[in-house]
Amino acid sequence: MKYLNYANGDKMPALGLGTWKSAKGEVYKAVRDSIELGYRHFDCAFLYFNEAEIGQAIADAISGGEVKREELWITSKLWNNRHRKEQAEGAILNTLKDLQLDYLDLYLIHWPVVLKDEINYPTEGSHLVSLKETTLTNTWEGMIGLKENGLTKHIGVSNFSISKLGEVSKNTGIKPEMNQVEMHPFLQQNELKAYCDSQNILMTGYSPLGSADRPANRILEGEPKLFENDTIAEIAYELNCSKAQVMLAWAVNRGTSPIPKSVNKDRLKENLEAADIELSDDQMQRMANVNLNYRYIKGDFWCLEGSDYTLDILWG
Ligand SMILES: NC(=O)c1ccc[n+]([C@@H]2O[C@H](COP(=O)([O-])OP(=O)(O)OC[C@H]3O[C@@H](n4cnc5c(N)ncnc54)[C@H](OP(=O)(O)O)[C@@H]3O)[C@@H](O)[C@H]2O)c1
Repeated sequence: MKYLNYANGDKMPALGLGTWKSAKGEVYKAVRDSIELGYRHFDCAFLYFNEAEIGQAIADAISGGEVKREELWITSKLWNNRHRKEQAEGAILNTLKDLQLDYLDLYLIHWPVVLKDEINYPTEGSHLVSLKETTLTNTWEGMIGLKENGLTKHIGVSNFSISKLGEVSKNTGIKPEMNQVEMHPFLQQNELKAYCDSQNILMTGYSPLGSADRPANRILEGEPKLFENDTIAEIAYELNCSKAQVMLAWAVNRGTSPIPKSVNKDRLKENLEAADIELSDDQMQRMANVNLNYRYIKGDFWCLEGSDYTLDILWG
């Protein structure tokens, strides 16, 4: 396994397990299987509504002597309706209780989007709160406090653009340690990656296999499919591995951290093994040419009429 290195010397296993859409009743087994297979990095979030079951699986694996807490890397995320600075501690304590942990390894601002306290998911513009009212800097100050009081070892953000990373860094003097964004061969995020590399901000790639199980209303007819790409198929043939393994190995070879989601033990094993597959310079170059700047998770679900969120504001 390769690792991503934090400034204080902490090491995050490059390949982790995604848990969005891993249903209750399924995710316990997926986490136990993963730990048995050798996964040590888990990507969680309040909004996935499965942290309690993940926590039980982790607790049982630890009490059964399969793994020690300090060998695990557990990430979770602050949800959009807890963005005010004074709300950060309550949010992380809730997640820690569900996960049965006393600290996280990494806590992220899930989206640069604010919702009213009582709204988990918006269906109308009035459910959203302007970033002028609750600023990202205010939210980031809350995150900094969580690191200072030891509730999380590292802090970062998700779905942040270059300008938003710059804004919170400049206003607080403290840079996010991680930016988790959608990243796969069709959305290589070259400009954002160059910026993050220059600022020593690490990157996690979500939906590294194209998120085929995302909600049907977020799947566009005729969208490009990673599993149908010829270059990925050719490299899989050359390396005698699967197409999914080519996508994941490419991400790890680039120094980023892919977090594929699976609840199937065979695919969990296949995905973990991808972290040890090397692509040649020529194969990496051919993968670079696959880029389409194509985003599967468009973020348009935040841009509701009557709010001041637009795609330009979200990604700009
Ligand atoms: N920060 C954010 O805003 C954000 C947004 C999206 C996702 N995420 C994180 O990133 C994780 C991964 O992204 P994702 O869940 O959207 O999608 P993904 O990992 O790209 O794709 C998941 C889909 O691929 C299937 N799959 C897994 N391994 C496979 C393999 N080897 N061959 C073929 N199919 C395979 C899964 O099915 P099976 O389960 O049946 O194997 C599932 O249908 C999430 O679970 C979440 O933790 C974060």
